Amino acid sequence: MTAQIIDGKAFAASVREKVAGHVARLKQDHGLTPGLAVVLVGEDPASQVYVRNKGKQTKEAGMLSVEHRLPDTTSEAEILALVETLNADPSIHGILVQLPLPEHVNAELVINAIDPAKDVDGFHISNVGLLGTGQKSMVPCTPLGCLMMLRAHHGSLSGMDAVVVGRSNIVGKPMAQLLLGESCTVTIAHSRTRDLPEVVRRADIVVAAVGRPQMIPGDWIKPGATVIDVGINRVPKDDGKSRLVGDVDFDSAVEVAGAITPVPGGVGPMTIACLLANTVTACCRANG
Ligand code: GUN
Repeated sequence: MTAQIIDGKAFAASVREKVAGHVARLKQDHGLTPGLAVVLVGEDPASQVYVRNKGKQTKEAGMLSVEHRLPDTTSEAEILALVETLNADPSIHGILVQLPLPEHVNAELVINAIDPAKDVDGFHISNVGLLGTGQKSMVPCTPLGCLMMLRAHHGSLSGMDAVVVGRSNIVGKPMAQLLLGESCTVTIAHSRTRDLPEVVRRADIVVAAVGRPQMIPGDWIKPGATVIDVGINRVPKDDGKSRLVGDVDFDSAVEVAGAITPVPGGVGPMTIACLLANTVTACCRANG
């Protein structure tokens, strides 16, 4: 049996189309344009690419995109002052401070300075707490994208065994909270988990978010399980170039799983699509 490939690229395009429709209606009916501000400090090449893509897709959806690019010598106080300005700006509904921040900046302090209602990353401690207690919150974009794909594939997830491999604040923990909210039986596995293959083999749903290339082979996967691969790892090829691989060994897993997301073209494109959706949500909530 070969798994069904979950096409994140196509799914993300359909989410962006819905977002653009929403934006057009907000403009026409209420004179509102959702605005997203992205703050990038320093020259990290991966962050530059992310920020460029975010800006492009924000504009394509008809929203206001504002970018603040600051040198890596910018002080914590200056970043906090910019966040305060954006918090007070009624044309800005979503604020995203690109991570990682330079070492001399306390990222937690900066994230928690963002107005929780504008925290489209869902990283503010208030949103983390709201999600953990099952209340209305801003939900982190990558786990939200994973959940949307799982819901589209399965309908109800109620009663399913879900294993999340990885316990990061950005993906693993919020993913587990979302799956719990869907009435899954949730296990969070990590580097210290005893007999990880056996734990993964129990799962109807595997979400891999560890950042280790091809760590999960096909023989850890229960036949027919759904595999969501969050990993984006660049590995060298024989010809001296490089390619992207996930945390799951796709070639062996595709032979066992019922459905699987590829890398690239799986979870990745969903993250920005969900960021746009969160910005529209923030705009609607801010305006009643
Ligand atoms: N850096 C890499 N991914 C992300 C993300 O989703 N949000 C932010 N703020 N920074 C990131």
